Amino acid sequence: MTAPLFDGLLRYVEKNITPFHMPGHKQGKGILRADEIKENLFKIDLTELPDTDNLHNAKGIILEAEERAAKAFGAKKSFFLVNGTTGGIYAMMLATLHPGEKLLIERSCHRSSFSGMILAGANPAYIEPAVDWEDGISVGVTPESVERALLENRDAIAVMVTYPNFYGLCMDIKAIADIVHRYGKILLVDEAHGVHFKFHEDFPITALEAGADMVVQSVHKTLPSFTQSSILHVGSDRINIDRLIFALRLVQTTSPSYLLMSSLDLAREEVEEHPDLMDEVMRLSHLAREKLKDAEDIHVIDEDIIGQYSIVDIDPTKLVVNVKGLHMTGHEAEEILRDRYNIQVELSDMYNILSMITIGDREEDIIKLVDAVKQLKKNKENRVIPITFDYKIPEIIYNPRDASFMHKKKVPIVESVGKIAGDFLIPYPPGIPYVAPGELITTGIAMEIEELVMIGVEVIGYDKGYVTILDI
Ligand SMILES: Cc1ncc(COP(=O)(O)O)c(C=O)c1O
Repeated sequence: MTAPLFDGLLRYVEKNITPFHMPGHKQGKGILRADEIKENLFKIDLTELPDTDNLHNAKGIILEAEERAAKAFGAKKSFFLVNGTTGGIYAMMLATLHPGEKLLIERSCHRSSFSGMILAGANPAYIEPAVDWEDGISVGVTPESVERALLENRDAIAVMVTYPNFYGLCMDIKAIADIVHRYGKILLVDEAHGVHFKFHEDFPITALEAGADMVVQSVHKTLPSFTQSSILHVGSDRINIDRLIFALRLVQTTSPSYLLMSSLDLAREEVEEHPDLMDEVMRLSHLAREKLKDAEDIHVIDEDIIGQYSIVDIDPTKLVVNVKGLHMTGHEAEEILRDRYNIQVELSDMYNILSMITIGDREEDIIKLVDAVKQLKKNKENRVIPITFDYKIPEIIYNPRDASFMHKKKVPIVESVGKIAGDFLIPYPPGIPYVAPGELITTGIAMEIEELVMIGVEVIGYDKGYVTILDI
């Protein structure tokens, strides 16, 4: 064996696992023009040539494809991204904030937003998200909490929220956009999981429809494009396009892949020109929910959650099954589905498994998943720990950028009290950073973390009693 990565992938493919995970094309099954891609795979892996345009100075076929995308998504301008939504988030922040400027941001934002703040030198003021403790999920920020944060931080330049969350739960993005604009600020949205919303009337509204100023979407997650291909949209005149283009040039390679860029173009073409495909995704999503309705000891997060925790809508393609009632963790359920049924879900957490339904799925895949979930057997002994805790965002001593570049060391958690964190401490569930780099670790925080670890909660950043602090 001379190519362990490639050969490992081939071995994985041989297992013929039914994928309920990203990318949305599900190993090509969701790509209508897959045969043409296969035939031309090597030939279209090109570089900037007179005929092929240049992503960083688009004037030809790339610009044309981006303009079609802008029209399809309802944006003023759209930009193709070859470094995922991660790169788009960096560019969005760099184009909006000068170093030291304040960003109001959801505490449960994705890691890429923390990285973006490090690059942009932003000063965050965090907005606490609402949490659904029954399902162990951080659901997002409410319009009220956004308004409170705006009142307390008049100097903020912009607000950034995640919509929908990973589990497809949607807060009232329209109300949030209205509030942010009433205070004269810019709304940035990480819509990594909502790129498909535009293509069926029964999906939740899109962030652009709600009035967001800039939005980034991972096309590869829920539509049929290649991993890493994402898109950034500008929704209003509040954005300085020259600054944005400068930022995009900073964060993206000078050799963008034509395979990735053309797969963005193809995904847009496919869903725009074949609306029946999204009808089918909708039908399959509802079929799965219908079939799991009466299953014992599990519950699917469904429309009945609307109205709780300020949730206003859900994405039916994110099939979240809470397996607490089976006395097993979501991680155990994921393992059983993989080992016994050859099914791979997108993720599991302490209480849930999450399967993604996309254009790449067929009815037999859905039936296979549903039947397997229904066959999960209840454990006699209950291994699931009910968790709720209160947390307060700690005092910020250094912003993420300054903290990131300081010297750090690992110390036993008892010795971290009164010191400044050098890394995150994130309990799962619900995945909200308890502490971020640059924040003061208090006695209360250290005690709470130790208690959570003791009852079996996974805490990212806590390693066998040790945590990272700034060495200053
Ligand atoms: C909410 C959220 N934002 C951003 C990202 C980063 O997206 P990408 O993988 O396209 O860079 C992710 C990835 O999982 C995500 O879940």
